[in-house]
Amino acid sequence: MTVSAMYPGTFDPITLGHEDLIRRAALLFDKVVVAVADDTSGKAPMFNTEERVALARTVLADIEGVEVTGYKGLTVDFALKQGLRVMIRGLRAVSDFEYEFQFANMNRHLTDEVETAFLTPTEKHTFISSSLVREVASLGGDVSEFVSPKVQLALMERVGRA
Ligand code: COA
Repeated sequence: MTVSAMYPGTFDPITLGHEDLIRRAALLFDKVVVAVADDTSGKAPMFNTEERVALARTVLADIEGVEVTGYKGLTVDFALKQGLRVMIRGLRAVSDFEYEFQFANMNRHLTDEVETAFLTPTEKHTFISSSLVREVASLGGDVSEFVSPKVQLALMERVGRA
């Protein structure tokens, strides 16, 4: 039996923290679908969906069993359409828990056919978030510790510092 999972997010842009989680998930599941949300819940993304998908594909190209795809609408609807019954979420710190608990419960109310599974990233990545990385990059800081070189280049180009 093939067990597949999805890892949804905005990935604006994908960071080493996301990558770490995806590498861990790829060891547990036969297939991991990295699902890049077009609906960014009110966030104004720096990269459009196609760009976020392309960056994630570039960064994750070497991991066997990982696919990257964009999607519109509810995450659980996408999961059901794709036959993905496991949704992976990352817990970086206790502060993530409340939101994640709410998110998982709301999704369970929308469908009880998708289970949420939580993974924790390596400690050295627990403070990374995409918005902090964007902020540091746009103010001229070095983001090489937080994102892969290709993402760093894309960020530098986007903020006019390449
Ligand atoms: N390493 C580094 N950063 C991480 C991380 C990790 N392991 N895990 C999470 N983060 C960061 C993300 O980059 C994000 O940073 P940002 O807020 O600075 O952009 C932040 O932590 C929050 O992550 P997450 O909760 O995954 O939010 P998200 O915006 O990436 O994804 C969606 C949220 C897209 C999954 C959610 O809004 C969604 O499902 N939307 C679709 C519509 C829907 O179904 N809505 C109903 C929800 S019940």
